[in-house]
Amino acid sequence: MVEATSVNPIDVRRRSGYGRKLFSLMGAARFPLVLGNDFVGIVTATGPGVSHFREGDAVFGAIPPSSTGTHASHVVMHTKHAMQQPKDMRTIPANALAALPYNFTTVLRALADAGLREENACGRDVLIHGASGRLGLLAVRTLANWGAYVTAVSNPASTAICRGAGAISVIDLNEQPLREITDKFAATLNFANWDDESALLKLLANDALGHATTVHPLLANLDQHGLLRGAINIMREKKSMRARAPKGARYAWTVFAPDQRALAYLSERSAIYTAAMTYSCFPLANAAFAHRHVEQRRPGCVVLLPT
Ligand SMILES: NC(=O)c1ccc[n+]([C@@H]2O[C@H](COP(=O)([O-])OP(=O)(O)OC[C@H]3O[C@@H](n4cnc5c(N)ncnc54)[C@H](OP(=O)(O)O)[C@@H]3O)[C@@H](O)[C@H]2O)c1
Repeated sequence: MVEATSVNPIDVRRRSGYGRKLFSLMGAARFPLVLGNDFVGIVTATGPGVSHFREGDAVFGAIPPSSTGTHASHVVMHTKHAMQQPKDMRTIPANALAALPYNFTTVLRALADAGLREENACGRDVLIHGASGRLGLLAVRTLANWGAYVTAVSNPASTAICRGAGAISVIDLNEQPLREITDKFAATLNFANWDDESALLKLLANDALGHATTVHPLLANLDQHGLLRGAINIMREKKSMRARAPKGARYAWTVFAPDQRALAYLSERSAIYTAAMTYSCFPLANAAFAHRHVEQRRPGCVVLLPT
């Protein structure tokens, strides 16, 4: 039974058909199409052979894109996409937790794609574009906890939030466009705008670890040009961008995929992430308002309450 789930930009886009070519291949574009990846809820039944979950267990997690998503009162899922809720749920708002698994899993992937790990991040200069968004703030907080020096690129209204999450400096694009930044970074992350990809790659130091982006045109290419021509375009665009990164630096287009390790990591540290989180809750019946909230890029996460 789903107690809380979240609405993210991908849900709003999928509603309009975005990603249909690839999602069709995955069987995730069939109608009736139920959106949603995250969930916090209670196990109401288990299938044969399931031993580590029982009826009544409090769980959370994220499922892959499907046509039977989590924006529903109940969802059937593979056990590898769920985890027992964190032990100390007294200090963690369950509704806030519902907005974390999809975004946190994506962030952890993006950090790894850019070459950043808990073991090597300490003392590194990292620039995050789109730092005030859902992914951005999770990335700032994670990297600050790992000891990295985070520079956040954000709008002026979110300076305090970015600093609160652990950024040591904040760049306002209106004051200082990316092309005028003279500092160099060990890693850059683009959660904001594909048009800025090239400018971000120029900010990598010669010995940089790498760059990762979640705002790449992978799905758009497949939608517009079909699977074959789309795939060729993707390879060409990636190659052209990779060539602008310093030699030896990683270059990646990050894509969400469920990850047990990310859930386990989150389970132990949820309180750090939920403590300062801002989120708005909507009953499932008002999902249209929740979608509008995300569409209009209003600040904070959006939680849906199905039951
Ligand atoms: N590939 C994947 O698997 C995957 C997974 C998750 C998310 N994503 C994508 O990653 C992006 C970030 O997700 P999110 O949930 O963090 O979104 P979000 O909460 O809307 O945050 C987006 C951030 O980017 C900034 N931004 C947006 N457009 C910009 C522009 N043209 N110039 C400068 N800054 C801009 C926003 O700043 P303002 O607040 O000032 O507008 C905000 O800080 C979204 O596009 C999302 O669809 C992809």
